[in-house]
Amino acid sequence: MTQLWDPARYARNARFVAELGLPVVELLAPQPGERILDLGCGDGALTEKLAALGCQVLGVDASPEQVAAARVRGLDARVVAAADLPFHEGFDAVFSNAALHWMPRPDAVIAGVWRALVPGGRFVAECGGHGNIARIRAALYAALEGRGIDPRPLDPWYFPTVEEYRARLERQAFRVESIALFPRPTSLPGDIAGWLETFAGSFLAALPASERPALLAELRQALLPDLCDKSGHWTADYVRLRFAATKAGISGGIPGG
Ligand code: BEZ
Repeated sequence: MTQLWDPARYARNARFVAELGLPVVELLAPQPGERILDLGCGDGALTEKLAALGCQVLGVDASPEQVAAARVRGLDARVVAAADLPFHEGFDAVFSNAALHWMPRPDAVIAGVWRALVPGGRFVAECGGHGNIARIRAALYAALEGRGIDPRPLDPWYFPTVEEYRARLERQAFRVESIALFPRPTSLPGDIAGWLETFAGSFLAALPASERPALLAELRQALLPDLCDKSGHWTADYVRLRFAATKAGISGGIPGG
């Protein structure tokens, strides 16, 4: 079961995704004129920032709805499956924010990024890392299991450890310049129900539409003590994995020298 993206709902409930992605843009340090692939560009909010910095940016995303929203911003964006990137040494950098955790087959994704980069090109990204939204995920699992539904095949998320993702990058011969896992409690713009409707569609769709309000109410109740403060403000338990890696160029060294 796949996650469906509704750009209007995304704009309401997920504007923070791009705002909190600005440190990843800083780590990328984009230079005017660089060719950059934004992998999992969503509605293009950060792609637009890269373009405004003078980069030649192509956004790719698996969601036709999100790509259409990115195009409305005047961006070059295409529907492309991340595990099947069709590019060959066409980019100085591949950038990705809050998207890799939605992509199954991480080795195929990393191999496609490698092919897409020129020698010396950078792969700079942030995604959910090990332990990300652990409370939210546990509540989803408990609520579905309580209804006799196995949540595992519905779970679209991949939250790797530092060690695991570093090993994957190095197996592809990337040189890992930096990689770190860190908690980033994330203030939500509204109720946790809005977050769940925006991002946990594959779990909610396991129930008929008529039963979803009760499921959302149960999830809300379960998460209230940990994620909602006394004034009613919700904070999600995000953990980020952030890294920068380089596709090693052809060695200029003298054999034996
Ligand atoms: C994240 O950005 O970490 C994330 C967002 C929605 C669902 C899962 C993870």
